Amino acid sequence: MIHARARSKASAWVGSSLLLLACEAPLSRAELEDPAECQSCHPEHYREWSGSAHAYAATNPVFEAMQARGLRETGGALGEQCLECHDPRAWAQRTGLETYDTPVKARGVTCFVCHALKGDPRTVLDEEAPLALSAGLVDPVETGAHASSYSELHDRFALGPASVCESCHRVTQEEWEASVYATPDPRSRLTCGGCHMGGRPGLAADVDSAPLRRVHDHQFVGASLALEDWPEHEAQRQAIERELESAVLATLCVLPFGGGSIAQVTLDNVAMGHAWPTASSPSRRAWVELVAYEGDQVVFETGRVADDQAVDGRAGDPYLWLLSNRALNSAGAPTHFPWEAAAYKGELLPPSVTNDPKDPRFIHSLTRFFPGGDRVTLRVRLRPVDFDVLDALITSGDLDPKTRARAVTWTLAGTVLEWRSELNRACVP
Ligand code: HEC
Ligand code: HEC
Ligand code: HEC
Ligand code: HEC
Ligand code: HEC
Repeated sequence: MIHARARSKASAWVGSSLLLLACEAPLSRAELEDPAECQSCHPEHYREWSGSAHAYAATNPVFEAMQARGLRETGGALGEQCLECHDPRAWAQRTGLETYDTPVKARGVTCFVCHALKGDPRTVLDEEAPLALSAGLVDPVETGAHASSYSELHDRFALGPASVCESCHRVTQEEWEASVYATPDPRSRLTCGGCHMGGRPGLAADVDSAPLRRVHDHQFVGASLALEDWPEHEAQRQAIERELESAVLATLCVLPFGGGSIAQVTLDNVAMGHAWPTASSPSRRAWVELVAYEGDQVVFETGRVADDQAVDGRAGDPYLWLLSNRALNSAGAPTHFPWEAAAYKGELLPPSVTNDPKDPRFIHSLTRFFPGGDRVTLRVRLRPVDFDVLDALITSGDLDPKTRARAVTWTLAGTVLEWRSELNRACVP
């Protein structure tokens, strides 16, 4: 592919406006659907997006395995449900679901999915409508490649309740709407994009006519890291670790109690405009690992889970502090699969809902107590998809067992704390 800047330089040198026009020929509808067509003029947006969960939403092996199992177990009744958000263009143009056979080449949450969206974010694109690609630029430079337009749904500063993200992140959207960040007061308002798409100076398009602007991050950093070889893998890993580092504020206090001591752990969701982990993901588990020592002797432990062992359903760990929205089937038993889910239940760290300290809802942190010692260590950990889910899909033959070795467990660096009696203070940090 020829670099766009190089192309327009070449055309200036030849001095033929005809050639320039030819280089910026309008992209056909099929080309607009294909992210590779955007790469020449939007190289940074493309690079960041290509490593994101959005780019692999349709080919994520866990997603594919779960969907295959769901279709089989429901005798096809699951239908195209999952595609609506994981592969919206295939969903809109589907020809036959059982075979997952669609005419769309580019799959997942593509540039087109987000940028051709207008109006009600929950409606499907009008396949016939003339297309402009929309984002937050009010004065986009004209290009021969595509029409551009400003859209409130994309603008992180827009005051309306709707955003392009809510089309799919529906549960998270509801959590956000109840949070302090959804306020119409622009001083404390933070939208999904406001937190997840950080701005930096740069070029919105790598063409000569484009001015320096504020451009926005397209890595869509969350928690899930591709379980196969995938572009930008290391960049995503580092970005996730960085984001998670300060997402939760942890305090560990060890207090004398009845001749011994108790450890008090407080977790505060300080940085997220939604619950943590967000309730949309029942296979996601966060938990507290706490170990208490007397001298070198371990006197108590909870949440000490090997990096290849499921945390959920652990026997002999009655103190386990699990943060997860579990799916329950109609008999009230836990299930991993959305098509069996009749209810959801579990503890999550709620987001801030008010900035008024006199409001009783101001304190939204959660506190738990554990047996203490003369040295106590703490860390909060997170599994994007826990091993009980992966193993169920491997056992049913839907998931390649090799996937297991690539699953990650994050440690939130800001929650790694150690209390020692010599410190002579009750709490760390
Ligand atoms: C030939 C170059 C070229 C190609 C190819 C191209 N664009 Fe653009 N695009 C531009 C230019 C130029 C702008 C305006 C940049 C500016 O104003 O700073 C732009 C702006 C945009 C905007 C912002 C619109 C707004 O008003 O906020 C979006 C979104 C966009 N492009 C998406 C895409 C997508 C998706 C593709 C691939 C299907 C694509 N572009 C292909 C040149 C191109
Ligand atoms: C309403 C939109 C929507 C629908 C419908 C949907 N999903 Fe998702 N799915 C999401 C979003 C958004 C996430 C990202 C999770 C989060 O919030 O962190 C996700 C995440 C996942 C993950 C976790 C991926 C990972 O590696 O972390 C799996 C697996 C998954 N979905 C499977 C399915 C299956 C199977 C179906 C159909 C039964 C389905 N989804 C239907 C929106 C949807
Ligand atoms: C068309 C549906 C769709 C839209 C629109 C959408 N997302 Fe997503 N998003 C998904 C799906 C599906 C996943 C999970 C993919 C997977 O892990 O397999 C996801 C994953 C993510 C993740 C990573 C989550 C994780 O668990 O690691 C973040 C962060 C995210 N989206 C943020 C956003 C933001 C911010 C917006 C709005 C600017 C947005 N999304 C718009 C469907 C969508
Ligand atoms: C006040 C800032 C803030 C706002 C507003 C916000 N988020 Fe987040 N979000 C975060 C932080 C911080 C994380 C944790 C870091 C990480 O997982 O990479 C996170 C994590 C996530 C995750 C993945 C991790 C999980 O919880 O399982 C998804 C998906 C997500 N956000 C989507 C959204 C969507 C969609 C919106 C809007 C409805 C939104 N966020 C609004 C800050 C925010
Ligand atoms: C999940 C939705 C989503 C996907 C997928 C996505 N974008 Fe965007 N993009 C946005 C949003 C939202 C903005 C506006 C950010 C703002 O102004 O707050 C944006 C802004 C832009 C802009 C304007 C400049 C800027 O950084 O603000 C360009 C150009 C662009 N995107 C190109 C692309 C290209 C090319 C792809 C695919 C390689 C892509 N986007 C994929 C949501 C998305």
